[in-house]
Amino acid sequence: MAEQRVIKAALLGLGTVGKGVYKLAERQMKEMADKTGAILEIVKILVHNMEKPREGVDQALLTDCWKDIISDNEIEIVIEVMGGMEPARTMILEALAAGKHVVTANKDLVAESGRELLDAAENTGADFLFEAAVAGGIPIIRPLKQCLAANEIDEIIGIVNGTTNYILTKMFEEEMSFEEALCKAAELGYAEADPTADIEGLDAGRKVAIMASIAFHSRVVFSDVYTEGITKISKRDIAYAREFGNVIKLLGVAHNTETGIEAAVHPMMIPKEHPLASVRDSFNAVFVHGDAVDDVMFYGRGAGELPTASAIMGDVIDVMRDILYHCTGRISCTCYRDTKVKEFREVKNPFFLRMQVDNKPGVLAAIAGVFGVHKVSISKVAQKVITDGIAELVIVTEAVKEYHLKDALTCLKDMDTTREISSVIRVY
Ligand code: NAP
Ligand code: HSE
Repeated sequence: MAEQRVIKAALLGLGTVGKGVYKLAERQMKEMADKTGAILEIVKILVHNMEKPREGVDQALLTDCWKDIISDNEIEIVIEVMGGMEPARTMILEALAAGKHVVTANKDLVAESGRELLDAAENTGADFLFEAAVAGGIPIIRPLKQCLAANEIDEIIGIVNGTTNYILTKMFEEEMSFEEALCKAAELGYAEADPTADIEGLDAGRKVAIMASIAFHSRVVFSDVYTEGITKISKRDIAYAREFGNVIKLLGVAHNTETGIEAAVHPMMIPKEHPLASVRDSFNAVFVHGDAVDDVMFYGRGAGELPTASAIMGDVIDVMRDILYHCTGRISCTCYRDTKVKEFREVKNPFFLRMQVDNKPGVLAAIAGVFGVHKVSISKVAQKVITDGIAELVIVTEAVKEYHLKDALTCLKDMDTTREISSVIRVY
């Protein structure tokens, strides 16, 4: 019997995700050989700190020297799970230039340098796959590039950050404050020591850039995506959302419109009947609308050791099959259009506004006047609390361009009768 083909791989990074990849590769060794017709062998693992104990990992595989990997011609696949821009970018470019195939989970890098990396892969006919970079274990890159390829996709809305979804779920279901829910998220290991990228919407913004590029066939980079986090969401906003039959979610929103691509991340009130409203806890989901398929939703674990490793190993298995069937580089960059990204100020949304104003005759009429001047149409008004001559006004607007709303708010802030504009939240 002929000896089975062995495909050698190197792992860059042995943190949360790297450990998951190592474990899954071990666990699936026999199955993978049966599935693909080749044996995957991880022959080197790049780490930063050689002294750290690495339970369950063959110490002989560890190295802190990139040269050991890049100059090993037998290594065909490089799995990058270090994170960050550099040295990950340089290592991936060098690996691709050397004809190695690369699988990565690095959203920061793909959202910023996706074109450069995909071009480098195309130059050598290598595979460059990054399923785990968006929504961890949820398949979304491959569905967008392949399964839904016959569609004109016009909308992607996603809950693509587990930490913030957990926080908002706790605020909604257990009436916790933002600070309490953030502490709980940190205790459970969802929120990192520095949670800025999650709570300010930056992590989700990178994922939106990647999904929009693929869905709309035009390059969208992270700096094209408007980002706003959840730090200003208060218990009162949550209570109003509930009263109006809504929930508040941090949404990544991308639309392909006649006037350009819209790409943003911000908290949004969505009706509780919307499929994304029932995505609780640290789960992620991505809702896609295509002209042929209609609505599709992808739901699951957006992070974590094994869910993320699941997406990475799916890519690795694809690369192994491509190697064996001599068809690597088959699906490369799909950005064959050049649709521009709209300036966010031109994007239209309905808004929920909560403000504290003097409770006296003529104030509401004056506010309505300001809105009229700035083309803001009001759909609902409620006056909720009156204390010491101050009224809490809640106004829901019709869809209005961002800059019209912003101009109106500037005028409202300047009015003597306005004490505070407490909340400005977009409505689906
Ligand atoms: P992590 O736990 O911080 O692990 C990073 C690993 O990379 C560590 O093993 C570290 O080595 C190694 N490393 C970092 N810089 C290095 C350098 N310059 N040279 C050599 N080794 C280096 O990170 P992670 O959570 O596994 O995330 C990895 C990637 O997956 C990131 O791109 C992240 O965005 C992405 N991702 C993560 C998740 C998740 O659930 N965590 C989900 C989806 C995507 P030492 O062990 O020696 O310190
Ligand atoms: N920090 C991310 C989250 C996981 O909370 O969903 C990695 O993308």
